[in-house]
Amino acid sequence: LYRKAQSKELPSFLLLGPSGAGKTTLLTLFANGTPSTTHTSQEPQTALCRLPSTVRSSEDRYRSEHDTSSRSQPQFLLVDTPGHGKLRHHAVTSLTSPGSLKGLIFVVDSAATSSSAGLTAAAEYLYDILLILQKRHTHSKTSKDPTALPVLIAANKQDVFTSLPTGLVKSKLEEEIARVRQTRSKGLLDSGIGMEDANVGDEEGNWLGEYGAREFGFGQMEEHGVDVRVAGGNVRGEGEGEGRVEEWWGWVGENL
Ligand code: GTP
Ligand code: MG
Repeated sequence: LYRKAQSKELPSFLLLGPSGAGKTTLLTLFANGTPSTTHTSQEPQTALCRLPSTVRSSEDRYRSEHDTSSRSQPQFLLVDTPGHGKLRHHAVTSLTSPGSLKGLIFVVDSAATSSSAGLTAAAEYLYDILLILQKRHTHSKTSKDPTALPVLIAANKQDVFTSLPTGLVKSKLEEEIARVRQTRSKGLLDSGIGMEDANVGDEEGNWLGEYGAREFGFGQMEEHGVDVRVAGGNVRGEGEGEGRVEEWWGWVGENL
């Protein structure tokens, strides 16, 4: 019984992002040390992972550099969700259900974001998720609900030669989210929502980031309690071993 209670309290991270971005492959790599072949996911799945000994965890902050006593690397659960548009309720459910969720890893295919369709698909999904986190934070100020969650945007497939470099993935996503925000706010006006005084607060509550701003930057999420980091890597890759995921491990360690 004790064991059961303990495993329930394991910290967890949620994997989400568009279909084909590499979420399930990343899950297999984090859980087993090597990436496995995957199929399009139709169900969420959870894997038990352990932080590699080369990665520092947030607990290490309290340890002296000279402390040589052995320590066990912390464990956590990684929850993979399907990226298909019709199956995203799984990700949203995991996001809104209580638990010891420590953060979100939003995986994007850096090659797909170089096409406008791929960029829009990623930005629309990311916009929806960031708005949920923003509202959750707004709500948590007046209730005892769970607080802020950090987001890692994993610019995956950096090994593919058509991939955009990480900095460009970030700025393109920001530009595209600004466009999505503009469209969605127009929708609000057209539908009449926000036209009456009573709904003005609603309009502001449905606006992602800095209210009324023309441009969007992930930094705007900070005042809404959402820390967004963008880091590049690749789960698969030719040569020099498989994958380059150290930055993502580092982020997991910091937030564990
Ligand atoms: P859904 O389950 O449909 O949401 O997709 P997913 O995000 O789980 O994608 P999945 O992990 O199944 O990967 C899709 C394809 O991308 C697979 O063929 C992977 O082998 C490939 N892939 C994943 N990561 C990388 C990478 O870093 N580089 C390269 N070249 N291919 C990758
Ligand atoms: Mg999958």
